[in-house]
Amino acid sequence: MLRRMMLAVSASDQIQKFVTRAPVARDVVARFVAGATQDDALAVTEALRERGLLVTLDYLGEHTADPERAAAVADEYISLLERLTAAGHTRGGAAEVSVKPTAVGLGLAEHGETTARENIAKIATAARAAGTTVTLDMEEHDRVDQVLRIQADLRGEFPDLGCVIQSYLRRSESDCAALAAASARVRLCKGAYDADGDVAFTDRREVDRSYVRCLRRLLDGPGYPMLATHDPRLIEIAGAQAILAGRPADRFEYQMLYGIRPAEQRRLAASGARVRIYLPYGSDWYGYLTRRLAERPANLTFFLRSLTSGR
Ligand code: FDA
Repeated sequence: MLRRMMLAVSASDQIQKFVTRAPVARDVVARFVAGATQDDALAVTEALRERGLLVTLDYLGEHTADPERAAAVADEYISLLERLTAAGHTRGGAAEVSVKPTAVGLGLAEHGETTARENIAKIATAARAAGTTVTLDMEEHDRVDQVLRIQADLRGEFPDLGCVIQSYLRRSESDCAALAAASARVRLCKGAYDADGDVAFTDRREVDRSYVRCLRRLLDGPGYPMLATHDPRLIEIAGAQAILAGRPADRFEYQMLYGIRPAEQRRLAASGARVRIYLPYGSDWYGYLTRRLAERPANLTFFLRSLTSGR
């Protein structure tokens, strides 16, 4: 309920202006975001890799409203990939990139899907040249068909183009079955958006049960599963299911967000698992941050206290 309210309130332009201008917000942002620039992203990537972690970088921003901005976001990814390559981070896919389809044009009033597909193809071309991969984030539920269509269209040319599936959606088990049969790279998460009961499970236990059904589909199929969760129970179930499915440690990976359960990230990596950290950077952090706050009331309390105490 609080999560739902939080996501709804955060859509207000006035609240966004107030929060993004408050200097104290930056302390909280720094916990979840590498920084504003490519230099910041490169420095944190280096530090994570030194700890034996893999990385996926996200240039913050979503719901781009004009084609020029969408093209500029694609260019940002291309130059990021060049810098990651020069620093040796893309070797073997150690660092890859995650792209929000609405950041590269999916939500444009005209030709949104075509624009997003073209921009994603440009980024995927740069990633292939760098020896690494691209994964498409999943946003609001009414975008899922478009994103899956873009991925399916482009996989002929870029077989490694991955996508995210959110277990809170009722359709996701069947999407996982289809993607697993097509040997796709799939990042499975619970879902950070809000949707009504006709399309989504609204009870957290149902979302978790759906996650387990989805992860079984992915681990049992021929694709590459990327299990994105910080939930200790689901991490344990994933490990056990991978053993049952006969999957060696290098044939799937765990993924977590930068700043969340870092000790668990290191523990899993030290146990021999592949662990990838989702690392956002850029100045357009508001949407990302509000989803992190909505996931956890304790984060919200800390954030509100920092806004009102003036520190
Ligand atoms: P859950 O929310 O139950 O949390 C389990 C435990 O993790 C908590 O008890 C707490 O310890 C810790 N935790 C979780 N969130 C926290 C937070 N914000 N602050 C502090 N601790 C926290 N979603 C989406 O809709 N589309 C997408 O494309 C992606 N992409 C994505 C990539 C990667 C790599 C990850 C890890 C996650 C996403 N997500 C996402 C977000 C995802 O849907 C989900 O909202 C969060 O991962 C939180 O869900 P958990 O599975 O961690 O479980």
